[in-house]
Amino acid sequence: MIVAPTDEAIRRAAEALLRGELVGMPTETVYGLAAVATSPGAIRRIFEVKGRPSDNPLIVHLASIDDLESVAEQVPLSALQLAERFWPGPLTLVLPKRKEIPSEVTAGLSTVAVRVPAHPVARDLIRAVGKPLAAPSANRFMALSPTRAQDIDPLIANQLFCIIDGGPCSVGIESTVVQCLPEIAILRPGGVSRDEIEAIMEVAPNPTLVERRSPGQYPRHYAPATAVRLVAEVRSDEPGLVFGVPTDIQVAMPRDPVAYASRLYGALRLLDHLGLDAIYVEAPPETDSWEAVWDRLRKASTID
Ligand code: TXA
Ligand code: MG
Repeated sequence: MIVAPTDEAIRRAAEALLRGELVGMPTETVYGLAAVATSPGAIRRIFEVKGRPSDNPLIVHLASIDDLESVAEQVPLSALQLAERFWPGPLTLVLPKRKEIPSEVTAGLSTVAVRVPAHPVARDLIRAVGKPLAAPSANRFMALSPTRAQDIDPLIANQLFCIIDGGPCSVGIESTVVQCLPEIAILRPGGVSRDEIEAIMEVAPNPTLVERRSPGQYPRHYAPATAVRLVAEVRSDEPGLVFGVPTDIQVAMPRDPVAYASRLYGALRLLDHLGLDAIYVEAPPETDSWEAVWDRLRKASTID
């Protein structure tokens, strides 16, 4: 059930979360599938509902940077500087976890991924619960993340207490996941660009990955059901995403990477519903500012 983000709806959703239920939560990146982070039973349900392997850890969401020490055992100065610069916002920090965070959330890792979302409804909900909320993107494992409340797959929606409608997600792709120790490194490009991070500190080019790879790095991911083909040029009779003037089976995409990202999943979803043989995507420029879009397009077009 999709509900408007009224105070009453947020209060009822918070009560349901505290009872161990799941709630569809709007964030500025994509919609999340939220559960109380300190409730192992609720966390296990997230994995069931998503069809996600249990070795793939979740992101813990906080209402404020002031709560960081309630989930992270150690916060190096570099992490604090990133949090102060980019929170609330689409940046996730990977830090040593506190023992209060159950191993179900972190898939047994000694680190926890944490962020403060910019969407005010997400923060209101976390505040109403009074505890951090673990939330992966509200899609089935490997599928496209929803960027509107109504895009959440009915297979998931049916198992939620409610979905709070916070409108379309402004960023439109997931947060940037940053490893903080032993050095700053980007594990998943996303809503905050490498340039923005490098403007305030050094980023390791090839991360010394702690424990094992961040599981968001599966080769295929973020994919519609229809095959995606990345091409230099999309012919006028081919359905897909183009930069120039579109034909009636094409979607015109912005030439700015931030605007492109905010439309990407919606555009792929629209074409995915048409029962096509393939969705052709005109390759964007290969410059740094397109890194996150490239990551999603590569993963969407990987066949495994
Ligand atoms: O924008 C977002 O990040 C959205 C919204 C809902 O906040 N959430 C999201 O969650 O994308 P999810 O579960 O779809 O992706 C979480 C990513 C995965 O790539 C996962 O491997 C990584 O974060 N991650 C989580 N905990 C980690 C850890 N301890 N170490 C390394 N990577 C971790
Ligand atoms: Mg996801």
